[in-house]
Amino acid sequence: MTWTLDDPIHLGSLHLKNRLIMAPLQQYKGTFDAFPIDHHIEHYGRRAKHVGLVILESTAISSNGRLWSNDIGIFTDQHVAPLRKIADAIHAHQTPAFIQLSHGGRKSSPEVTNFMVAPSAIAFDDHYGTPEPLSLAGIQTVIEEYRLAAKRTVEAGFDGIEIHAAHGFLIHQFLSPLSNIRLDDYGGNSENRARFLKEVLLAIRGEVGRQYPVTLRISATDYFKGGLTTEELVRMLQPLECELDAIHVSTGGLLPIQPSDVHTGYQVPYAAAIKQHFHIPVIAVGKIYTRSLANRILEDQLADCIAIGSPLLTDPDYAECLLTHEDQVSSRG
Ligand SMILES: Cc1cc2nc3c(=O)[nH]c(=O)nc-3n(C[C@H](O)[C@H](O)[C@H](O)COP(=O)(O)O)c2cc1C
Repeated sequence: MTWTLDDPIHLGSLHLKNRLIMAPLQQYKGTFDAFPIDHHIEHYGRRAKHVGLVILESTAISSNGRLWSNDIGIFTDQHVAPLRKIADAIHAHQTPAFIQLSHGGRKSSPEVTNFMVAPSAIAFDDHYGTPEPLSLAGIQTVIEEYRLAAKRTVEAGFDGIEIHAAHGFLIHQFLSPLSNIRLDDYGGNSENRARFLKEVLLAIRGEVGRQYPVTLRISATDYFKGGLTTEELVRMLQPLECELDAIHVSTGGLLPIQPSDVHTGYQVPYAAAIKQHFHIPVIAVGKIYTRSLANRILEDQLADCIAIGSPLLTDPDYAECLLTHEDQVSSRG
């Protein structure tokens, strides 16, 4: 059986009307205290109608782990009501909404971070500076912050959670041997480096239950020798599959380097490699801007869903074009 972009799919218990997903896209418009503003309500509401799912931009689970000084957060109960307005704006189109929960670790914004933490005292670059290694108690504090963020996500009316374990942020820092040189139970072999992710996931599951959709965004390569590989990630994630409802496959971000060739669909081979080892849906993303390419990926069973990002920033109707027109928009991406 092969699928097209227009076919419905389930992410766990959640029905999506089609397989096109709005990728998380930071708006850089949060207030000093990480509250969303009217822009966010309008922005997401305007783009929600045609996609099967909206994943909200990276949302900080801790005041100490914001990715940007103008991102949004979910680290106090006061954040719930304004976030609910965004969920309502998306739901007005009968489209479900996820929040992407994140902690920046060593890539937390220096402008708004009091105490920068990471698995190990290895700086991303001079701008961010050297982080403080998390103590065992500090790890438990962050895990509790994820749990509370999950609780607030449900209270704010969202339909699911995407755990941000990609792009060099805190969970990715634990996974990769390039940023995690700990000698305790959270560092060393693959199982130990995956322990933080596992405990975050289990804490979230303990809060929301198994029926609530939880997906994971990963970087399938660090683009650097000695870094995380797709093969190692597969080994790390296989024991967690029963707790996940989809895997969203991105790449890079751990180091201040760019992939040498960012061509159309450049991350699809990573999604396809992951998909071979899992039964839950896999989401492909990255320069997939035409209907024919999206459908080919689905038909060839390289992925189960397609996420689009940048085109939706400039053209709020891009999803409609992709779903209804045969490649008339290929030059607009
Ligand atoms: C302005 C901008 C903001 C982004 N914000 C996030 C984010 O908050 N979380 C995340 O995981 N990825 C983020 N991304 C990455 C996108 O989700 C997506 O993976 C990337 O843009 C590739 O897809 P595309 O070629 O369709 O744009 C962002 C990308 C852009 C261009």
